[in-house]
Amino acid sequence: MQSRPRRNRRNTAIRSMVQETRVHLDQLIYPLFLVSGDEIKESIDSLPGLYRFSLDQLLIEIKECVDLGINNYVLFPSIPEEFKDSKASYSYDPANFYLEAIKQVKSHFPQVFLMSDVAMDPYNSDGHDGLVQNGEIINDATLPILVKMAIAQAKAGIDVVGPSDMMDGRVAYLREGLDEAGFEKVGIMSYTAKYASAFYGPFRDALDSAPKAGDKKTYQMDPANRREAMREAALDIEEGADFIMVKPALCYLDIISDLQDISEIPVAAYNVSGEYAMLKAACMNGWLNYDQAMPEMLQSIVRAGADIVLTYFAKDYAKLLSR
Ligand code: PBG
Repeated sequence: MQSRPRRNRRNTAIRSMVQETRVHLDQLIYPLFLVSGDEIKESIDSLPGLYRFSLDQLLIEIKECVDLGINNYVLFPSIPEEFKDSKASYSYDPANFYLEAIKQVKSHFPQVFLMSDVAMDPYNSDGHDGLVQNGEIINDATLPILVKMAIAQAKAGIDVVGPSDMMDGRVAYLREGLDEAGFEKVGIMSYTAKYASAFYGPFRDALDSAPKAGDKKTYQMDPANRREAMREAALDIEEGADFIMVKPALCYLDIISDLQDISEIPVAAYNVSGEYAMLKAACMNGWLNYDQAMPEMLQSIVRAGADIVLTYFAKDYAKLLSR
């Protein structure tokens, strides 16, 4: 036998040397949930190990994560029902506690990368990412609201805004709006291929942000479609995105791979709440080994072509590395 692939798997040193994919903490973004109030650290039933934090607790959590080597964060707010309206006006209200949190995080930890969520759903009494009129999600009338939201976040000090709404034309619209307001340095990570997925369930529980009527299928992509992701990517890149994203990650590794092939800007993947919940549940039941299955999952996403992974596993992964 001339070729024996097993020779390169003989011992740990060789296996480490020939490893093709390494997941580094620098490429992970840790999503955190924010609530208004003080001294709140609330567990989330469908996301064991994750919490809703009030700002004081959030700062403590970030300090702990920074010490573990996590530098990148994305923040999502849970908005009390009384602040919601059909135009998501609280999203750019100067008194908004989410904007205050952005300010505080960036002033306590100026070295961290902080990304926002740009979409109407946390603030929308209709629970949709866009403006609802007569049961329809109106594209163009949503854009000015998204720009106001993004500019408010930029003023608060956000590094990169993350439009997760899937309205057509929003990347160009946001870019122009941010530039005109003097925020040409604020980047855009576009949720480029965001699918109408069942795997967002636990996130919507965490934020109480599920649509009040209907579903998100007229704006989020059909899970059946592959070529359409290329179309979305071409548009976002042309419109000035700094990063493109595929979401969810695990059922969409082919899409991550496709976009990595064509993109000259970094490709991110969102390892979403349902993917986290699924693995956690199996591990808590003793059906899978967490310390083995969790890094394997992250590795598969990076191996498929993700340069960056948004993942709820970031903290556990950092702890695992430090052991
Ligand atoms: C909202 C938004 C969602 C997620 C991120 N931003 C949910 C949705 O579109 O309904 C999902 C994240 C996750 O499931 O982890 N625009």
